[in-house]
Amino acid sequence: MEKNNKATSEEHDDILDIEIDKEFDTNIDEIQKRKIDAKRIKKIDQSKKRATIESVFDERTIFNLSKLLKNGPLERVEGVISAGKEANIYLAYDLNGKEVALKIYKIDSNTSKWMRNYIIGDPRFKKIPRNISKVIFLWASKEFKNLKRAYKVGLSVPNPIYVKDNILIMDYIGFESIPAPILKDIKSPKEPIKLMKEILGFIKQLYQKAKLVHGDLSEFNILYHNQKPVIIDISQAVSIHHPKSEVYLVRDIKNIFKYFEKLGIETLDPKEFYYEVIKTDN
Ligand SMILES: Nc1ncnc2c1ncn2[C@@H]1O[C@H](COP(=O)(O)OP(=O)(O)OP(=O)(O)O)[C@@H](O)[C@H]1O
Ligand SMILES: [Mg+2]
Repeated sequence: MEKNNKATSEEHDDILDIEIDKEFDTNIDEIQKRKIDAKRIKKIDQSKKRATIESVFDERTIFNLSKLLKNGPLERVEGVISAGKEANIYLAYDLNGKEVALKIYKIDSNTSKWMRNYIIGDPRFKKIPRNISKVIFLWASKEFKNLKRAYKVGLSVPNPIYVKDNILIMDYIGFESIPAPILKDIKSPKEPIKLMKEILGFIKQLYQKAKLVHGDLSEFNILYHNQKPVIIDISQAVSIHHPKSEVYLVRDIKNIFKYFEKLGIETLDPKEFYYEVIKTDN
C-alpha cells in the first residue's frame, strides 16, 4: 500500500519533468471533461437550456429537500448562485436565518464516469458502486469528508454542515445575499504576495495535516472573501496515498504559480516548493 505513495526521488523528478519542464499534456481529466462537454452540447438544444438548471430536481432530490425544509436544517432556499456542469449552488437559510450554501449534484452518467478516476485508488473508498446515483452520492459524501478534514486542521474552507445523497450544505461565503467572487474575477487582489503565500500555505497544510491533495486548485475554485482566500470545490481531492496524488499536486502548484506569474509576481521554483510540500510525508 505504502509503496504506491513513496515514489523515489528519481520518480519524483520524472513527474516534475513531465509536468513542469515540458508542456506535456497530462491533463487527461480536462480532455475527458471537454469531451463530455462536447457530447452534452450536442445533446442539449436551446429549447432545453432551462432544463440544465432544473435538472438537479429529480423526484428524490425534491423529496429530500422538502424533508430538510420541514425538519431542518433549512428554513428556505433562495436563488441559484451558480449552475454548473456537475452541480448547482443555491443560497439558502438555516433555522436561525443564517445564510448557508446548498450544493446539489446532478445525477449524470458522464459525470459519474469521470468521477471514478478520483475514487478508484483512494484507500478511503474500497467499494466503488456501479449505480450512477450511488457514485454521485459517494462523490457528495467525499466532498463533505474532504471539507471536514480540511476544516478540522484549521484550513480556509467552508465548514460542511450536512450531507445526504446528492445534497451538501456548507457555510456560505459572502456578504448577505452577495456571494464572494472567485479569484478569477478579481482584477488586482490586494497584497498579492501575501495572498500567494496563503494559498501555498493551504496546499502545504492540506497535504501535511489533512493528508489530501485538492486536485482542481486554480483561481476558479478559490473565493476571495475579506481579502482572504477560501478554497472550495474540494470534492475531487484525493488522499496523498492515491496513486495519482503527486500528479495532481504538481498540477495544482503549476496552476497557482501560473496565476500569480500573470499578475507579475515572482514565484518560487515549483520543484523546490513541491519538495517542501511532500517532505514530511512518511
Ligand atoms: N460555500 C460557498 N459560498 C458561496 N458561494 C459558493 C460556495 N460554494 C460554491 N460557491 C459558488 O458556486 C460556484 C460553483 O461551486 P463549485 O466550484 O463548488 O461547484 P462545481 O463543482 O465547480 O460546479 P461546476 O463545475 O459544475 O460549475 C463557485 O464558483 C462559487 O461561485
Ligand atoms: Mg468549481
